[in-house]
Amino acid sequence: MRAIQADTAGGPEQMRMVDVADPEIRPDQVLVDVAASGVNYIDTYQRSGVYDVARPFRPGLEGAGVVAAVGAEVDWAAPGDRLAWAGTLGSYADRVALSREDAYRVPDGVELDTAAALMLQGLTAHFLSASCFPLESRHTALVHAGAGGVGLLLTQLAVARGARVITTVSRDDKEELSRAAGASDVIRYETFTDIATDLPRAVRDLTDGEGVDVVYDGVGAATFDGSLESLAVRGTLVLFGGASGQVPPFDLQRLNRGGSLSVTRPSMVHYLRTDEERSWRAGELFSAVASGKLDVRIGATYPIEEAPAAHRALEARGTTGKVLLLP
Ligand SMILES: NC(=O)c1ccc[n+]([C@@H]2O[C@H](COP(=O)([O-])OP(=O)(O)OC[C@H]3O[C@@H](n4cnc5c(N)ncnc54)[C@H](OP(=O)(O)O)[C@@H]3O)[C@@H](O)[C@H]2O)c1
Repeated sequence: MRAIQADTAGGPEQMRMVDVADPEIRPDQVLVDVAASGVNYIDTYQRSGVYDVARPFRPGLEGAGVVAAVGAEVDWAAPGDRLAWAGTLGSYADRVALSREDAYRVPDGVELDTAAALMLQGLTAHFLSASCFPLESRHTALVHAGAGGVGLLLTQLAVARGARVITTVSRDDKEELSRAAGASDVIRYETFTDIATDLPRAVRDLTDGEGVDVVYDGVGAATFDGSLESLAVRGTLVLFGGASGQVPPFDLQRLNRGGSLSVTRPSMVHYLRTDEERSWRAGELFSAVASGKLDVRIGATYPIEEAPAAHRALEARGTTGKVLLLP
């Protein structure tokens, strides 16, 4: 089969297509023919060395496809089943060996590419809005990168919970998409000379001087200071990524001075700990998609061999919604 591999940490050019043997499945695993693999920002952290991974490295954590074979102990899937997954390294490939804890059954009426696009960013948007800071109708949230993969899904889930959502984006087309997802106001942070002061000013202008109850910040280094200053008293900063770079260590006294603020730095794996939790989150996401309440935007698709181009586009802020690799 074909797979994407990067032998050393570095830029997108480190990734190349290799011919390798099909993965060997354990008795408790299934072999899946991949219909679509999702590209996520974490793939770029792992590729570049921001996150430590074993090398040579086979990127990709999510996808969807059809079961080709099952191990002797498998009673949870059968050949021909349509499954999607999140958390299986090496998903930029024609085939993956899939374990039960990463797998989700794709319901009828949901296309495999949509399921692949929904997994990691959808589960993230779900735990952020329902668990990390459980949004209610009395809340106002600031969501950075509102037209990104997580951003579009998080905005829709937050609005569905009744919250008011303010977003940041960098371009006209992204502003349009973010408003369509339900943002009440869109801040163009690319126009700011100093995000740390201009962003909180813009947020306070939109909130009668109060600030927001929660900031969901996946942009990181460039926005962190401005995010903190945009919070209302007792507000929460949910730092869930660093698309612009990782946030340096910071002085806890800033939480005191800002008004008894909270900061959390969550990771999806810690919000998918049991079968119940996994099926709750995926079940809500799939039924929202199937009923037309949640729109999953696939902003771009690339043939799998063009994985380097997909990473370049994502890291250059050139993408909206989901980026998929197709076999
Ligand atoms: N903690 C978790 O469990 C978890 C799970 C999934 C994802 N994440 C995080 O969520 C964030 C979003 O992930 P995603 O896959 O959905 O990506 P994405 O939002 O589709 O893409 C990143 C976006 O960030 C914005 N951005 C601002 N400054 C940037 C910069 N200097 N370089 C690159 N992008 C910049 C861009 O939007 P604008 O052009 O509009 O600024 C860009 O489109 C990432 O930080 C990712 O690591 C975390």
